[in-house]
Amino acid sequence: MEIQDVFQHYVDDMRAVEDLIEESQRSYVHLIPEITDHIIKSGGKRLRPLLLVISSDLCGYRGDRQFPLASVMEFIHTASLLHDDVIDHAVIRRGKPSANSIWGNSVSVLVGDYLYSTSFKVLAEDGDQSVQKLLATTTSSMAEGEIIQLAKCGDINITEKEYFSIIEKKTAILISAACAIGAILAKAPESEVKALARFGMRLGTAFQLTDDTLDYVAREDDFGKTIGMDLKEGKITLPLIRTFKECDPNEKKIIERAVEDTGEDYIEEVASLINKYGGIKYSLDKADSLIEEGKAFLEIFGDSTPRKGFFAIADYVVERKL
Ligand code: IPE
Ligand code: IPE
Ligand code: MG
Ligand code: MG
Repeated sequence: MEIQDVFQHYVDDMRAVEDLIEESQRSYVHLIPEITDHIIKSGGKRLRPLLLVISSDLCGYRGDRQFPLASVMEFIHTASLLHDDVIDHAVIRRGKPSANSIWGNSVSVLVGDYLYSTSFKVLAEDGDQSVQKLLATTTSSMAEGEIIQLAKCGDINITEKEYFSIIEKKTAILISAACAIGAILAKAPESEVKALARFGMRLGTAFQLTDDTLDYVAREDDFGKTIGMDLKEGKITLPLIRTFKECDPNEKKIIERAVEDTGEDYIEEVASLINKYGGIKYSLDKADSLIEEGKAFLEIFGDSTPRKGFFAIADYVVERKL
Protein backbone atom coordinates (compact mmCIF):
# COMPACT_ATOMS: atom_id res chain seq x y z
CA MET A 1 0.00 0.00 0.00
CA GLU A 2 1.28 3.49 -0.91
CA ILE A 3 0.20 6.76 0.70
CA GLN A 4 -2.13 7.58 -2.25
CA ASP A 5 -3.86 4.20 -1.75
CA VAL A 6 -4.45 5.06 1.89
CA PHE A 7 -6.13 8.35 0.99
CA GLN A 8 -8.08 6.52 -1.72
CA HIS A 9 -9.25 3.83 0.70
CA TYR A 10 -10.52 6.47 3.16
CA VAL A 11 -11.78 8.90 0.52
CA ASP A 12 -15.42 8.86 1.75
CA ASP A 13 -14.42 9.30 5.38
CA MET A 14 -12.09 12.16 4.49
CA ARG A 15 -14.86 13.78 2.42
CA ALA A 16 -17.07 13.68 5.53
CA VAL A 17 -14.29 15.33 7.55
CA GLU A 18 -13.75 17.95 4.83
CA ASP A 19 -17.49 18.78 4.82
CA LEU A 20 -17.39 19.37 8.58
CA ILE A 21 -14.30 21.54 8.25
CA GLU A 22 -16.01 23.64 5.58
CA GLU A 23 -19.25 23.82 7.54
CA SER A 24 -17.59 25.23 10.63
CA GLN A 25 -15.69 27.74 8.50
CA ARG A 26 -18.96 28.97 7.07
CA SER A 27 -20.08 29.92 10.56
CA TYR A 28 -17.39 32.56 10.79
CA VAL A 29 -17.25 33.54 7.19
CA HIS A 30 -18.71 36.90 8.16
CA LEU A 31 -15.54 37.61 10.14
CA ILE A 32 -12.81 37.47 7.55
CA PRO A 33 -14.01 35.58 4.49
CA GLU A 34 -10.84 35.63 2.46
CA ILE A 35 -8.64 34.40 5.24
CA THR A 36 -10.72 31.34 6.13
CA ASP A 37 -11.07 30.45 2.49
CA HIS A 38 -7.37 30.88 1.98
CA ILE A 39 -6.56 28.60 4.89
CA ILE A 40 -9.04 25.86 4.17
CA LYS A 41 -8.50 25.68 0.44
CA SER A 42 -4.75 25.97 0.50
CA GLY A 43 -4.35 22.20 0.48
CA GLY A 44 -2.80 20.87 3.66
CA LYS A 45 -2.18 17.15 3.63
CA ARG A 46 -4.86 16.46 6.28
CA LEU A 47 -2.48 13.95 7.81
CA ARG A 48 -3.76 14.26 11.39
CA PRO A 49 -7.47 13.76 10.53
CA LEU A 50 -6.49 10.76 8.40
CA LEU A 51 -4.59 9.20 11.31
CA LEU A 52 -7.61 9.55 13.58
CA VAL A 53 -9.91 7.98 10.99
CA ILE A 54 -7.51 5.05 10.47
CA SER A 55 -7.11 4.51 14.19
CA SER A 56 -10.87 4.28 14.72
CA ASP A 57 -11.06 1.79 11.84
CA LEU A 58 -8.16 -0.26 13.21
CA CYS A 59 -9.87 -0.56 16.59
CA GLY A 60 -13.24 -1.47 15.07
CA TYR A 61 -15.17 1.68 16.04
CA ARG A 62 -18.59 1.78 14.43
CA GLY A 63 -20.12 5.22 14.73
CA ASP A 64 -19.60 8.68 13.38
CA ARG A 65 -17.82 10.60 16.14
CA GLN A 66 -14.49 10.19 14.33
CA PHE A 67 -15.47 12.82 11.76
CA PRO A 68 -15.96 15.87 14.00
CA LEU A 69 -12.99 14.80 16.11
CA ALA A 70 -10.83 14.46 12.99
CA SER A 71 -11.86 17.99 12.01
CA VAL A 72 -10.71 19.15 15.45
CA MET A 73 -7.26 17.71 14.72
CA GLU A 74 -7.05 19.90 11.62
CA PHE A 75 -8.34 23.00 13.47
CA ILE A 76 -5.73 22.64 16.19
CA HIS A 77 -3.02 21.98 13.61
CA THR A 78 -4.03 24.95 11.44
CA ALA A 79 -4.26 27.25 14.46
CA SER A 80 -0.76 26.22 15.48
CA LEU A 81 0.52 26.92 11.95
CA LEU A 82 -1.09 30.38 11.87
CA HIS A 83 0.59 31.24 15.17
CA ASP A 84 3.84 29.52 14.17
CA ASP A 85 4.12 31.53 10.95
CA VAL A 86 3.80 34.76 12.92
CA ILE A 87 6.54 33.66 15.34
CA ASP A 88 8.76 32.39 12.49
CA HIS A 89 8.08 35.37 10.18
CA ALA A 90 7.18 32.87 7.46
CA VAL A 91 6.15 34.25 4.08
CA ILE A 92 5.16 31.03 2.33
CA ARG A 93 2.89 28.29 3.64
CA ARG A 94 1.48 25.40 1.63
CA GLY A 95 3.02 26.90 -1.51
CA LYS A 96 1.13 30.19 -1.15
CA PRO A 97 1.80 33.48 0.61
CA SER A 98 1.25 32.86 4.34
CA ALA A 99 -1.77 34.46 6.06
CA ASN A 100 0.48 36.73 8.15
CA SER A 101 2.24 37.98 5.05
CA ILE A 102 -1.07 38.91 3.42
CA TRP A 103 -3.22 40.12 6.33
CA GLY A 104 -0.67 40.79 9.04
CA ASN A 105 0.08 39.28 12.42
CA SER A 106 -3.00 40.42 14.32
CA VAL A 107 -5.41 38.75 11.95
CA SER A 108 -3.38 35.52 11.98
CA VAL A 109 -3.28 35.39 15.76
CA LEU A 110 -7.00 36.07 16.09
CA VAL A 111 -8.06 33.57 13.45
CA GLY A 112 -5.77 31.01 15.10
CA ASP A 113 -7.53 31.68 18.41
CA TYR A 114 -10.87 31.36 16.68
CA LEU A 115 -9.89 27.94 15.37
CA TYR A 116 -8.93 26.84 18.89
CA SER A 117 -12.28 27.97 20.21
CA THR A 118 -14.04 26.12 17.38
CA SER A 119 -12.22 23.03 18.64
CA PHE A 120 -13.48 23.56 22.21
CA LYS A 121 -17.03 23.80 20.87
CA VAL A 122 -16.79 20.57 18.89
CA LEU A 123 -15.14 18.81 21.84
CA ALA A 124 -17.88 19.99 24.19
CA GLU A 125 -20.54 18.72 21.78
CA ASP A 126 -18.79 15.35 21.56
CA GLY A 127 -18.78 15.24 25.35
CA ASP A 128 -16.09 12.58 25.92
CA GLN A 129 -14.00 13.58 28.94
CA SER A 130 -11.08 11.33 28.13
CA VAL A 131 -10.74 12.88 24.67
CA GLN A 132 -11.11 16.36 26.16
CA LYS A 133 -8.41 15.65 28.75
CA LEU A 134 -6.06 14.22 26.15
CA LEU A 135 -6.43 17.24 23.87
CA ALA A 136 -6.13 19.68 26.78
CA THR A 137 -2.75 18.24 27.73
CA THR A 138 -1.81 17.97 24.06
CA THR A 139 -2.43 21.63 23.23
CA SER A 140 -0.75 22.73 26.42
CA SER A 141 2.36 20.70 25.49
CA MET A 142 2.33 22.20 22.01
CA ALA A 143 2.39 25.70 23.46
CA GLU A 144 5.18 24.64 25.84
CA GLY A 145 7.17 23.26 22.91
CA GLU A 146 6.93 26.54 21.01
CA ILE A 147 7.87 28.50 24.15
CA ILE A 148 10.94 26.34 24.88
CA GLN A 149 11.93 26.59 21.23
CA LEU A 150 11.70 30.36 21.42
CA ALA A 151 13.79 30.38 24.59
CA LYS A 152 16.42 28.24 22.84
CA CYS A 153 16.42 30.38 19.72
CA GLY A 154 19.98 31.14 18.59
CA ASP A 155 21.50 28.82 21.19
CA ILE A 156 23.96 26.71 19.21
CA ASN A 157 24.77 24.72 22.35
CA ILE A 158 21.30 23.20 22.46
CA THR A 159 21.62 19.47 23.09
CA GLU A 160 20.07 16.67 21.05
CA LYS A 161 18.00 15.80 24.09
CA GLU A 162 16.59 19.33 24.30
CA TYR A 163 15.91 19.34 20.57
CA PHE A 164 13.98 16.07 20.79
CA SER A 165 11.99 17.31 23.75
CA ILE A 166 10.95 20.39 21.74
CA ILE A 167 9.85 18.49 18.64
CA GLU A 168 7.99 15.90 20.67
CA LYS A 169 6.02 18.66 22.32
CA LYS A 170 5.40 20.97 19.39
CA THR A 171 4.64 18.33 16.76
CA ALA A 172 4.63 14.69 17.86
CA ILE A 173 2.13 14.96 20.70
CA LEU A 174 -0.72 16.06 18.40
CA ILE A 175 0.06 13.26 15.94
CA SER A 176 0.16 10.83 18.86
CA ALA A 177 -3.22 12.07 20.09
CA ALA A 178 -4.70 11.61 16.60
CA CYS A 179 -3.57 7.98 16.65
CA ALA A 180 -4.86 7.35 20.18
CA ILE A 181 -8.30 8.95 19.85
CA GLY A 182 -9.65 6.34 17.42
CA ALA A 183 -8.86 3.67 20.02
CA ILE A 184 -10.55 5.70 22.76
CA LEU A 185 -13.70 6.00 20.60
CA ALA A 186 -13.69 2.24 20.06
CA LYS A 187 -13.34 1.69 23.83
CA ALA A 188 -10.29 -0.41 22.99
CA PRO A 189 -8.23 -1.89 25.85
CA GLU A 190 -5.71 0.46 27.46
CA SER A 191 -2.86 -1.56 25.91
CA GLU A 192 -4.12 -0.63 22.42
CA VAL A 193 -4.61 3.05 23.25
CA LYS A 194 -1.05 3.14 24.61
CA ALA A 195 0.41 1.28 21.62
CA LEU A 196 -1.22 3.73 19.21
CA ALA A 197 -0.11 6.74 21.26
CA ARG A 198 3.46 5.40 21.22
CA PHE A 199 3.34 4.69 17.49
CA GLY A 200 2.10 8.27 16.98
CA MET A 201 4.90 9.77 19.10
CA ARG A 202 7.55 8.03 16.97
CA LEU A 203 5.74 8.92 13.77
CA GLY A 204 5.36 12.57 14.79
CA THR A 205 8.96 12.92 15.91
CA ALA A 206 10.17 11.38 12.65
CA PHE A 207 7.83 13.74 10.79
CA GLN A 208 9.34 16.87 12.34
CA LEU A 209 12.87 15.48 11.96
CA THR A 210 12.25 14.97 8.24
CA ASP A 211 10.74 18.45 8.02
CA ASP A 212 13.86 19.88 9.62
CA THR A 213 16.10 18.15 7.08
CA LEU A 214 13.83 19.30 4.23
CA ASP A 215 14.34 22.86 5.46
CA TYR A 216 17.94 22.42 4.26
CA VAL A 217 17.56 20.19 1.22
CA ALA A 218 14.05 20.34 -0.28
CA ARG A 219 13.00 22.02 -3.51
CA GLU A 220 10.94 25.01 -2.52
CA ASP A 221 8.18 24.18 -5.05
CA ASP A 222 7.77 20.69 -3.60
CA PHE A 223 8.04 21.76 0.03
CA GLY A 224 5.66 24.72 -0.18
CA LYS A 225 7.74 26.68 2.36
CA THR A 226 10.87 28.82 2.11
CA ILE A 227 14.09 26.79 2.34
CA GLY A 228 16.76 27.75 4.89
CA MET A 229 14.28 29.48 7.19
CA ASP A 230 15.30 27.57 10.32
CA LEU A 231 18.88 28.84 10.14
CA LYS A 232 17.75 32.34 9.31
CA GLU A 233 15.45 32.35 12.33
CA GLY A 234 18.12 30.90 14.64
CA LYS A 235 16.19 27.63 14.97
CA ILE A 236 18.87 25.03 15.63
CA THR A 237 17.73 21.65 14.36
CA LEU A 238 19.35 18.21 14.35
CA PRO A 239 21.33 18.46 11.07
CA LEU A 240 23.07 21.55 12.48
CA ILE A 241 23.39 20.27 16.06
CA ARG A 242 25.18 17.19 14.72
CA THR A 243 27.42 19.20 12.37
CA PHE A 244 28.38 21.68 15.08
CA LYS A 245 29.40 18.83 17.34
CA GLU A 246 31.57 17.18 14.67
CA CYS A 247 33.24 20.11 12.91
CA ASP A 248 36.60 21.81 13.65
CA PRO A 249 37.00 25.08 15.61
CA ASN A 250 37.17 27.26 12.47
CA GLU A 251 34.03 25.72 11.09
CA LYS A 252 32.37 26.17 14.47
CA LYS A 253 33.07 29.89 14.13
CA ILE A 254 31.39 29.97 10.73
CA ILE A 255 28.29 28.32 12.17
CA GLU A 256 28.24 30.61 15.22
CA ARG A 257 28.40 33.67 13.01
CA ALA A 258 25.65 32.32 10.74
CA VAL A 259 23.38 31.80 13.73
CA GLU A 260 24.13 35.17 15.33
CA ASP A 261 24.09 37.35 12.23
CA THR A 262 20.54 36.98 10.94
CA GLY A 263 20.96 39.90 8.55
CA GLU A 264 23.17 38.00 6.11
CA ASP A 265 22.51 34.85 4.14
CA TYR A 266 24.80 32.01 5.22
CA ILE A 267 22.65 29.11 4.11
CA GLU A 268 25.01 27.85 1.38
CA GLU A 269 28.05 27.92 3.62
CA VAL A 270 26.24 26.14 6.43
CA ALA A 271 24.54 23.67 4.11
CA SER A 272 27.91 22.66 2.71
CA LEU A 273 29.23 22.02 6.23
CA ILE A 274 26.12 19.99 7.01
CA ASN A 275 26.81 18.06 3.86
CA LYS A 276 30.47 17.54 4.77
CA TYR A 277 29.59 16.13 8.19
CA GLY A 278 26.60 14.06 7.06
CA GLY A 279 24.12 16.01 9.18
CA ILE A 280 21.23 15.17 6.88
CA LYS A 281 21.96 11.45 6.80
CA TYR A 282 22.42 11.43 10.56
CA SER A 283 18.97 13.00 11.04
CA LEU A 284 17.23 10.81 8.47
CA ASP A 285 18.78 7.70 10.04
CA LYS A 286 17.28 8.76 13.37
CA ALA A 287 13.93 9.26 11.67
CA ASP A 288 14.19 5.80 10.10
CA SER A 289 14.87 4.11 13.41
CA LEU A 290 12.00 5.97 15.07
CA ILE A 291 9.71 4.71 12.30
CA GLU A 292 10.87 1.15 12.87
CA GLU A 293 10.29 1.49 16.63
CA GLY A 294 6.87 2.96 15.93
CA LYS A 295 5.83 0.16 13.61
CA ALA A 296 6.81 -2.42 16.24
CA PHE A 297 4.14 -1.01 18.59
CA LEU A 298 1.51 -2.00 16.01
CA GLU A 299 2.45 -5.66 16.20
CA ILE A 300 -0.27 -6.28 18.81
CA PHE A 301 -2.84 -5.57 16.09
CA GLY A 302 -3.20 -8.32 13.51
CA ASP A 303 -2.69 -7.63 9.83
CA SER A 304 -5.50 -5.50 8.39
CA THR A 305 -6.11 -2.71 5.89
CA PRO A 306 -5.94 0.06 8.53
CA ARG A 307 -2.69 -1.33 9.88
CA LYS A 308 -1.29 -1.46 6.33
CA GLY A 309 -2.43 2.17 6.03
CA PHE A 310 -0.49 3.16 9.16
CA PHE A 311 2.60 1.38 7.80
CA ALA A 312 2.28 3.20 4.47
CA ILE A 313 2.03 6.55 6.27
CA ALA A 314 5.04 5.64 8.40
CA ASP A 315 7.10 4.92 5.27
CA TYR A 316 5.83 8.07 3.58
CA VAL A 317 6.90 10.24 6.51
CA VAL A 318 10.56 9.41 6.01
CA GLU A 319 10.40 9.47 2.21
CA ARG A 320 8.38 12.65 1.78
CA LYS A 321 9.54 15.72 -0.10
CA LEU A 322 6.62 17.98 0.85
C1 IPE B 1 3.67 21.29 9.03
O1 IPE B 1 2.84 20.18 9.12
C2 IPE B 1 4.22 21.63 10.36
C3 IPE B 1 5.07 20.60 10.93
C4 IPE B 1 4.74 19.94 11.97
C5 IPE B 1 6.36 20.32 10.33
P1 IPE B 1 2.25 19.51 7.80
O2 IPE B 1 3.38 19.24 6.85
O3 IPE B 1 1.40 18.35 8.18
O4 IPE B 1 1.36 20.68 7.22
P2 IPE B 1 0.20 20.68 6.13
O5 IPE B 1 -1.07 20.71 6.92
O6 IPE B 1 0.30 19.47 5.27
O7 IPE B 1 0.41 21.95 5.39
C1 IPE C 1 6.26 23.10 13.40
O1 IPE C 1 7.39 23.84 13.52
C2 IPE C 1 5.07 23.94 13.63
C3 IPE C 1 4.18 23.50 14.69
C4 IPE C 1 4.20 22.32 15.22
C5 IPE C 1 3.23 24.49 15.15
P1 IPE C 1 8.15 24.48 12.29
O2 IPE C 1 8.23 25.94 12.50
O3 IPE C 1 9.41 23.73 12.04
O4 IPE C 1 7.18 24.17 11.10
P2 IPE C 1 7.20 24.83 9.71
O5 IPE C 1 8.55 24.52 9.12
O6 IPE C 1 6.98 26.28 9.93
O7 IPE C 1 6.08 24.14 8.97
MG1 MG D 1 7.60 27.53 11.37
MG1 MG E 1 10.47 23.74 9.90
